[in-house]
Amino acid sequence: STPRAWRAADDFLADTLVGRDPQLEAVLAAQHDAGLPEIEVAPVAGKLLNLLVRISGARRVLEIGTLGGYSTIWMARAVGDQGRVVTIEAEAAHAAVARASIEAAGLGERVDIRVGRGADVLPTLVGGFDLVFIDADKESNTIYLDWAAKLGHPGTVVVVDNIGREGEIANDATTDPRVIGTRDGLRMLGEDPRFDATALQTVGVKGWDGFAIAVVV
Ligand code: DHB
Ligand code: MG
Repeated sequence: STPRAWRAADDFLADTLVGRDPQLEAVLAAQHDAGLPEIEVAPVAGKLLNLLVRISGARRVLEIGTLGGYSTIWMARAVGDQGRVVTIEAEAAHAAVARASIEAAGLGERVDIRVGRGADVLPTLVGGFDLVFIDADKESNTIYLDWAAKLGHPGTVVVVDNIGREGEIANDATTDPRVIGTRDGLRMLGEDPRFDATALQTVGVKGWDGFAIAVVV
């Protein structure tokens, strides 16, 4: 559960720095109406993804885990007219909701939704991605990181959502496969010479969690 003060402070930050965004509110309404899980990134985190794309100058973005397209749209807005976002979604029903929202946002030309499990879709992609956002089934994070390195290049930015898990990453006794997958991914970021990485815990509207950020060396 999320302490009231974390939510209030996060709402203040979102109101102050992100602002109202009818287009993105429509995306969340469509996702809600379709009964999708409400586990999209927070508004301040969507804005962070948008800024990371712009700061890095990324033109080709890969997202693993589309859900309703909320983070997809934040990044698609940032890649520019000639930029592209390839986003992978395992659930066809989620992909359909995302496709409609991305079209409604006027970003259909920039976004290529691939329906299928990451492990099946990733080997079919042509590389050259400048930024990769990993936010799908946590059990597969090491597979996704391996593909991020293969489909990236030196300088590619890699962002992994949900690395804090209410501190469970430090619980050696956990049997939760999502926590184990997350921890294995973090260990890979620390040990694999293809990456240089750090991670930050966050508190806010989504509780206590965090992001890893890496560069492909
Ligand atoms: C879950 C997944 C996410 O990507 C997230 O940001 C929050 C929760 C989940 O599977 O519970
Ligand atoms: Mg997530």
